[in-house]
Amino acid sequence: MATQIRIGVFVVVAGIVLVVALAVRRTEGAKDEFRFDAAKLKDRNTWTQVNNDPYQMPAAVAALCAPVVLLEPESKKNPHAASYITVYVNKAGRESMFAKQPQRFPEGSIIVKEKFNSPEDRKPLLYTIMRKRAAGYNPKVGDWEFSVVGPNGTELRASGKLENCQGCHLTKSESDFVFRPYVTSQ
Ligand code: HEC
Repeated sequence: MATQIRIGVFVVVAGIVLVVALAVRRTEGAKDEFRFDAAKLKDRNTWTQVNNDPYQMPAAVAALCAPVVLLEPESKKNPHAASYITVYVNKAGRESMFAKQPQRFPEGSIIVKEKFNSPEDRKPLLYTIMRKRAAGYNPKVGDWEFSVVGPNGTELRASGKLENCQGCHLTKSESDFVFRPYVTSQ
């Protein structure tokens, strides 16, 4: 009888340990997961708007920078229409964004590119985002993580080492894989 109780207690304790371990692992995973809320871009303590006037992407880039048509059904109507962008950078990335000479962005930097169909539009087509992860995350492209968020500002459509984004950004290795044509002070 005593042995049965001991086994019972052991099973219960082992179960609790397992559940706690799984819960901890899950929160650790969630910590790294990219979360975004476009409504927060208005918070000037966290975000800096990089370009004041909407920057017009060259049409060729606009068509290609919408590499994953599936991710961007809203702009499928006219893929060759010019696109306008507003770029935001968070505190961690601000200095590198406005630096005269290109410099490596520190870990934690986030750059958000908000895309519009026309300069008057208030409703964005989507957000493309680069987040600088820890060294070793994605060494081939400066440890950047690429994400696409839908027009509602929170729906994460894709995130990670997205090949279709890296293809272009790889060509800008001399400036930490960031293009920055919209920065007027550089
Ligand atoms: C066809 C090449 C191309 C592809 C593919 C591409 N980009 Fe870009 N990206 C650019 C160019 C060029 C700029 C500079 C601003 C502009 O003209 O839009 C840019 C700018 C950006 C910026 C602002 C930081 C910077 O580099 O100035 C972010 C963030 C970004 N892209 C994310 C993405 C994500 C996420 C994807 C994949 C869904 C992606 N890009 C795919 C060419 C590309």
